[in-house]
Amino acid sequence: MLAKTFLAIYFLLLILLSGSLKQVQKLLSAHEASYLQSLRNLKKKINLLQSNAGKQATRATNSTCPKLEPPVNGRKLGKSHSVGHEVHFVCDPGFELVGPESRVCQESLTWNGQQTACRYINECASSPCLNGGTCVDEVNHFFCVCAKVFVTMTNTSAATSPDTAAASTMPAATSGPLVRPSRCTITQGTTHCTCEPGYTISGRDSTTCTDIDECELFHNGQAGKLCLHACVNTPGGYRCSCPAGYNVTRDGRSCKDIDECATRQNNCTKDQTCINTYGSFQCVRVDCPKIPNATYVKTSPMRCERNPCSVDNKACSQAPNSFSYHYLAVVSNLSAPRVMFRVSAMRPIGDTLRFSLLGGRQARRHFTVQRSDRVTGQLMLVSPVQGPATLEAEVEMSELERRVPLGRYITKVTMFVSQYEF
Ligand SMILES: *[C@@H]1O[C@H](CO)[C@@H](O)[C@H](O)[C@H]1NC(C)=O
Ligand SMILES: *[C@@H]1O[C@H](CO)[C@@H](O)[C@H](O)[C@H]1NC(C)=O
Ligand SMILES: *[C@@H]1O[C@H](CO)[C@@H](O)[C@H](O)[C@H]1NC(C)=O
Ligand SMILES: *[C@@H]1O[C@H](CO)[C@@H](O)[C@H](O)[C@H]1NC(C)=O
Ligand SMILES: *[C@@H]1O[C@H](CO)[C@@H](O)[C@H](O)[C@H]1NC(C)=O
Ligand SMILES: *[C@@H]1O[C@H](CO)[C@@H](O)[C@H](O)[C@H]1NC(C)=O
Repeated sequence: MLAKTFLAIYFLLLILLSGSLKQVQKLLSAHEASYLQSLRNLKKKINLLQSNAGKQATRATNSTCPKLEPPVNGRKLGKSHSVGHEVHFVCDPGFELVGPESRVCQESLTWNGQQTACRYINECASSPCLNGGTCVDEVNHFFCVCAKVFVTMTNTSAATSPDTAAASTMPAATSGPLVRPSRCTITQGTTHCTCEPGYTISGRDSTTCTDIDECELFHNGQAGKLCLHACVNTPGGYRCSCPAGYNVTRDGRSCKDIDECATRQNNCTKDQTCINTYGSFQCVRVDCPKIPNATYVKTSPMRCERNPCSVDNKACSQAPNSFSYHYLAVVSNLSAPRVMFRVSAMRPIGDTLRFSLLGGRQARRHFTVQRSDRVTGQLMLVSPVQGPATLEAEVEMSELERRVPLGRYITKVTMFVSQYEF
């Protein structure tokens, strides 16, 4: 409020300096008092607006626009349907806004702009699955079913809820035209004053319009927040901002991860693989394991296979046949239980397949391994994990014939959990 007061006086000085200097001093105290009074009125009016959005914030008129329904799969922020007021629309996670993000009740008692709708986002539309995989779209995430690959990989994207997202409000802009003159007409002795969208009437005689701080006004709205992360008030409006590593989405409200690996914004070396994570990236390097009496060779950037064993080397033939490495990027506080990863045997040999979880206590605290069909095991996340964190788990698949082990295949899964829930 103090900053705004100085601002008002500053504006006043600018206006007055163009006039006679003698009048300045006389007028200054009178105007200052009047402006302070105006600001007090403004504060009262904003309070009124917040506490009882249905009531008029100005004396000018009490006319209202017709009731506006929230869009299907979305919500409406702002209850006041009075002239000059605006309402905002937000969509549920997995849906994107079609049409204006906000609408203003006009003097003609109609809403400006077109009707708003929330459209389902089909994550598969961008064909994210490589190597002929089939994409299966679900609300807010998708997974790829691979054609003829050894493993099936589940891909999870941000599962966010605006009610739980970490949000903060940045200080209101301290510069810019936060105060503007109003437009008044006199009909039958009654003065009607209106403001541009995003401004509200202030001043003793409704001659001034002051910027509405949408960030403050909708900060704790029951219907949700304007911005998933941070809200920045601007003259006549607001914008949402995102933490480093994220970009504001098309609807201007949420944050989407920047793929540093795709845009060369990473510093991974040639022998490393860049893994894009939510809000950041990781450089990883696969080195084949060192196991006594067995040697491994890298058959692909993410896979090591055991070299043939000599007949008398029992320790070698008991060592795992292969190690494969997988890196998953997930958002913090992902709801659980949920499947993170599936391992399948393509051409099982033997009469029995077993799936089990290796990797110590830390792995057991967060994961479990289940069988999902005869040839497939799945790694389940058992409880939500708060990021930032890196978790590791190993899934072992073993093939047996009359209880005699035929082979062991290890899949190492590293999960990068982001700091934010988006
Ligand atoms: C203003 O509202 C009151 C009560 O809701 C109503 O009685 C009155 O007719 C309204 N006046 C105008 C000009 O719409
Ligand atoms: C999983 O998602 C990441 C990041 O969006 C992407 O780089 C990767 O290619 C995806 N993997 C699959 C199998 O879709
Ligand atoms: C972020 O989004 C803006 C506007 O949509 C775009 O101009 C910019 O290139 C994006 N930045 C990155 C790093 O993707
Ligand atoms: C990459 O850059 C980050 C800082 O941006 C630094 O902390 C990290 O050590 C660098 N990594 C390599 C491999 O140079
Ligand atoms: C491991 O290999 C060494 C030499 O190659 C051999 O002497 C030893 O018996 C092997 N150990 C086992 C447990 O097979
Ligand atoms: C995690 O998510 C749950 C429900 O989705 C929510 O109640 C909880 O507050 C979240 N925890 C944190 C630390 O954000």
